[in-house]
Amino acid sequence: MSHIESVLHENRHFPPSTTFQAQANVSGVAHYQALCEQARTTYPEFWANLAREHITWHKPFNRILDAGNAPFFRWFDDGELNVSWNCLDRHLTHYSARTAIIFEADDGTVSHVTYQQLFERVCAMANALKEQGIHKGDRIVIYLPMSVEAIVAMQACARIGAIHSVVFGGFSAKSLHERIMDAGARLIITADAGFRGGKTIPLKSVVDDALAMSTISPIERVIVYQRAGCSIHWQNGRDVWWHDCVSSQATFCEPEWMNAEDPLFILYTSGSTGRPKGVQHSSAGYLLGAITSMHWVFDAKPATDVFWCTADVGWITGHSYVTYGPLALGMTQVIFEGIPTWPDAGRFWRMIQQHRVTTFYTAPTAIRSLIKLGADLPAQHDLSSLRLLGTVGEPINPEAWLWFYRQIGQERCPVVDTWWQTETGAHMIAPLPGAITTKPGSCTLPLPGIQADILDEQGESLPVGEGGYLVVRQPFPSLLRTLWNDPERFKTTYFPVEFKGCYVAGDSAHRDEEGYFWIMGRIDDVLNVSGHRLGTMEIESALATHPAVAEAAVVGKPHDIKGETIVAFVVLKQQCPRNGAAKAMADELRHWVGKEIGAIAKPEEFRFGENLPKTRSGKIMRRLLRALARDEEISQDVSTLENPAILEQLKSVC
Ligand code: PRX
Repeated sequence: MSHIESVLHENRHFPPSTTFQAQANVSGVAHYQALCEQARTTYPEFWANLAREHITWHKPFNRILDAGNAPFFRWFDDGELNVSWNCLDRHLTHYSARTAIIFEADDGTVSHVTYQQLFERVCAMANALKEQGIHKGDRIVIYLPMSVEAIVAMQACARIGAIHSVVFGGFSAKSLHERIMDAGARLIITADAGFRGGKTIPLKSVVDDALAMSTISPIERVIVYQRAGCSIHWQNGRDVWWHDCVSSQATFCEPEWMNAEDPLFILYTSGSTGRPKGVQHSSAGYLLGAITSMHWVFDAKPATDVFWCTADVGWITGHSYVTYGPLALGMTQVIFEGIPTWPDAGRFWRMIQQHRVTTFYTAPTAIRSLIKLGADLPAQHDLSSLRLLGTVGEPINPEAWLWFYRQIGQERCPVVDTWWQTETGAHMIAPLPGAITTKPGSCTLPLPGIQADILDEQGESLPVGEGGYLVVRQPFPSLLRTLWNDPERFKTTYFPVEFKGCYVAGDSAHRDEEGYFWIMGRIDDVLNVSGHRLGTMEIESALATHPAVAEAAVVGKPHDIKGETIVAFVVLKQQCPRNGAAKAMADELRHWVGKEIGAIAKPEEFRFGENLPKTRSGKIMRRLLRALARDEEISQDVSTLENPAILEQLKSVC
């Protein structure tokens, strides 16, 4: 609550400058309100008009929204299109020579890829996939570093109607294995290794380990992009080099014409159970969300902008605002293999200067770490090309917002704080920068066509200032369609009956007197570490599989840079360890979680006890654990606590 209180006191206002407003795609608040009003009065035609305007259809649709089998909504479902065609082919007539991608490698090497070249590379890869026996509807796992190849691989899947499931390179063999099995993937595209911050990050060996985890694997082929040239294990008959399979392919591939509702991809994300959820997105609705938000929120000007979203393609942000949104508009974009702090904390600013970036979209955690490591560095660079800044993934504290606005945007560039999720596919609540006055720490107002609201536990709308469940009242095209292999979980997680047909996001929020939304954080047991979503249950299950662990509970603790860090409370089967033994056990468990899930899920702190604080009915008192993790005085009622003595033990940190 203390965090929420401090945000509540933030009431500085930053209206768009007249210069920005004059050139904006949505110019002035009246324009924004007119769009919202149009969306309200002509729903769902509002979306149909946008779909006709922004998507090139192979077969135009007549049906707009089918809500007959709610919450399994269908949009434009008698229409046909190809997403890759919309991202590539349609640009070739007029600007085939425009740079699509400026790729900067970890070591600083820069390469440019035009739309024509990207089109040819995607076609060659699409033909290669077909040669490997891949058909429409097959699943392909992509486990690649940030590279042009990652985008080519995703677009090639879209071209032939294969469903990609990108797994972030930081996930472990075990996590990769789970995702391969759940999706029933036939093929994996990976690299020998990637480079990040001067280090080589092995990828192929992780794939080998993942595939060795079960005797029966659906995977028939592993395509390996040679990035690092390091030595790797090779399985003849299964493994093929990327360069070998594309070299003899034609550079044209007829796209597979897909139904609007055919799945474009699956992306696994954490929920409140131990098992990740395969969020399934559609083709047309998803694409429409990516395009309209590029136009409204990023005020996209394809002919002149240089767009840079720093997210990895392993996350939804990298799907919507690297692989699909910018390409669908024919933008020029920067993609970056490395990390913001290497070789020094001026890397981002140097890249903005060098590539003349106009629109820069990153995570609050990156901003906070760059403030800490080099607040003076932006001033040493020419950032005059910038015209718009954006943040995503977690709440941004007003101090970081203001630093971003002043030091990076030089008080010239609006800052768009964009609230959305893997599930929503595109921005939901964010300022339209030429129309909406921003307030640091608030994601401001919903996009046109998005009916956001805040409800209490009975599903009633809450008045100004009261925190509750953030929901979206009406279906919108870019919303996930279901959870892969688990439609029942889709229904119960996102459309619980008490919320009467609303999409329940899993976040809490409140509104101020101007109707601005302030996100308060997750309402479920999901953590947000450095903008990445992690389920407490997933980490607890991973810890519980360690042979020495009897029981574990995990909570989040606020952190200056990462937003939140993970604190694990662990009961061992043997005696509770002390001093050196406790530290050694903490290191061992940290390593274990890294292997089970991935480095991003490693707990920062461990606390060992003979038991966990439980109620008399045996329920773990998580609120108490949170207070312990934050080193707060225990002011809560502990009378229901079965075993009060263990609170002292759990105060000591490893
Ligand atoms: O809690 C919200 C937080 O990130 C969650 C979604 O995580 P994920 O699906 O991994 O997608 C991240 C990128 C869209 C949300 O439920 N979140 C995302 N953006 C914001 C945010 N919290 C506050 N402000 C934001 N702008």
